[in-house]
Amino acid sequence: MKRHLEHTLSTPLTVELAQTQDLDELLVVARQAFTETYEPIGVKPAGIVRRYVEETFTREWLLPQLGDYFVAKVGGKIVGFAGLDARTEVPVSVADSNAIYFSGLYLLQGFQGLGLGRKFFEARSRHALARGFTSAWLSVWRLNAGAVEFHRRMGFEVVGEQEWRYEADGETWICEDWVMRIRLDASSQGSAFV
Ligand SMILES: CC(C)(COP(=O)(O)OP(=O)(O)OC[C@H]1O[C@@H](n2cnc3c(N)ncnc32)[C@H](O)[C@@H]1OP(=O)(O)O)[C@@H](O)C(=O)NCCC(=O)NCCS
Repeated sequence: MKRHLEHTLSTPLTVELAQTQDLDELLVVARQAFTETYEPIGVKPAGIVRRYVEETFTREWLLPQLGDYFVAKVGGKIVGFAGLDARTEVPVSVADSNAIYFSGLYLLQGFQGLGLGRKFFEARSRHALARGFTSAWLSVWRLNAGAVEFHRRMGFEVVGEQEWRYEADGETWICEDWVMRIRLDASSQGSAFV
């Protein structure tokens, strides 16, 4: 099915490190993918998702960490992104101080279920191993069942929980998250084209 679609598109689905020229397009995709993921499920208070994406996904935010982002491209256009972040404090539940945070992984709706999530996983694992990390961890909203299942399929296990919150104009968006961890080894790297 995935091969068939790739063949139909007549264009490879690639995952590669972001370049400076990707900056503005990546921001547009980040805003759209994040909004598509959370707005339809009725996050309260209304309007806070858009507020969050406008405030967060800015050039000032992305530029210093662009080298830690991978982008998925289809026919040269960015359709998703995923990051690594060695600066975020490792939660105690991860039980490995040499762990790296796998930050947001988002694909535009029309490009989910094509194997790009796995390609991102393999690319990030390879990158993290090359930098000497022994584990990766992430935080995922418990009610995002599809994402939780995707990460389980990649080999992550739930090791703890934490609260994510965003406050704006006296209103608060709260997510109860699972903390998930994977020990990295050669088998995490996969063989996908990156
Ligand atoms: C979650 C997400 C990144 C997965 O990427 P994807 O490209 O759709 O996933 P893939 O096609 O690479 O699938 C890889 C495996 O995960 C499984 N999987 C993917 N999404 C799944 C879902 N929603 N439910 C159950 N399994 C899922 C696939 O069946 C596949 O399993 P297999 O290899 O055993 O056949 C993508 O769907 C997405 O961007 N979702 C919206 C944003 C989001 O929720 N991001 C996560 C925030 S933490």
